[in-house]
Amino acid sequence: MPEPATKVSLTGIKPTGEPHLGNLIGAIRPALTLAEEYDSIYFIADYHALTTERDPAAFRHYTRSVAATWVTAGLDPNRTVFYRQSDVPEIFELTWAMSCVTGKGLMNRAHAYKAARDRNIDAGEDPDFGINMGLFNYPVLMAVDILIMEADVVPVGRDQAQHVEYAADIAGSFNHLYGDSYRFKIPEAVIPEEDSAHTVPGIDGRKMSKSYDNTIPLFLPENKLKKLVRRIPTDSTPVEEPKDPNSSTVFQILEHFATPDVIADTRKRLEAGGVGWGELKNQLFEVLNAEIAPLRERYNELMEPGSDLDTYLAEGAEKARERAGKVLRSVRKAVGIS
Ligand code: ADP
Ligand code: TRP
Repeated sequence: MPEPATKVSLTGIKPTGEPHLGNLIGAIRPALTLAEEYDSIYFIADYHALTTERDPAAFRHYTRSVAATWVTAGLDPNRTVFYRQSDVPEIFELTWAMSCVTGKGLMNRAHAYKAARDRNIDAGEDPDFGINMGLFNYPVLMAVDILIMEADVVPVGRDQAQHVEYAADIAGSFNHLYGDSYRFKIPEAVIPEEDSAHTVPGIDGRKMSKSYDNTIPLFLPENKLKKLVRRIPTDSTPVEEPKDPNSSTVFQILEHFATPDVIADTRKRLEAGGVGWGELKNQLFEVLNAEIAPLRERYNELMEPGSDLDTYLAEGAEKARERAGKVLRSVRKAVGIS
């Protein structure tokens, strides 16, 4: 019996801002863990970001920053197929073919589009005010990202679950029509729990997110990191009073980065009283900085024009195009273009 082929894990990150601690804990590290067990395909979803990004210089910077973050966090380009979505034109060709088997009604029901429409309706605007076709077609492009690489599992946040279901639906429509000639693999989402063990709070205590402007970007210079940590609000409990670690944002962030011993010890010291919030913030800064400092240098190196990153991305694009090209050729044949 031949060994079953290793399954493929695929995910993309949209370059819409500086990668932050939440992205590392919630997306990048879990995906890198999957890469130990699965064949892995990880990319920068730059065309998806173009649905909202209007500043070319910022867009260029975020794309490079997300790519550099993957590598700095441990992605091994020899082991993982790693590329920029826009370097793989096969994705766009397949997007058209798949749009032609996708019901418009399905797109009308997509969460992001529906939410934008509902906001317009509530504001008394035309329902489609300010909505571009990129936003409307977003789920088809994402389906193709997944299907063209024949992915089995797609690690994503809960907000992306519907998109992976759509990818499975769209693959099903194609298979129904052309399945005698070519069948897409049906992908499945892998979604982390949204509990406190998997969600990093931002500096205002809500979930850390670029949309809340409350993030701690990963590779800030040391002094800026210190300043941000200082800004995390705390209550006015005096130094000597006992404190509740569970209601402290500083402690909750610490929990994601300190060792279990340090977390247990800090919890005890807070509950006993005698530790001020300022001291806890210093501790958080030290823990974060110890983790990030060695990575910061590598990140800054990779961000330089002409660094290894360009080689990794060029080689990755070649591998990705080879893989995508095979699927695209089968599809062209199946639908009757070639
Ligand atoms: P943002 O909310 O900052 O725009 P994205 O939506 O781009 O972040 O998220 C990219 C990935 O990072 C997703 O898989 C998401 O689940 C994960 N992620 C984002 N913020 C957090 C967080 N605070 N804690 C854990 N995971 C997060
Ligand atoms: N839409 C995803 C997000 O906003 C990013 C993404 C694009 C993606 N293509 C993908 C994720 C394919 C997984 C698979 O986070």
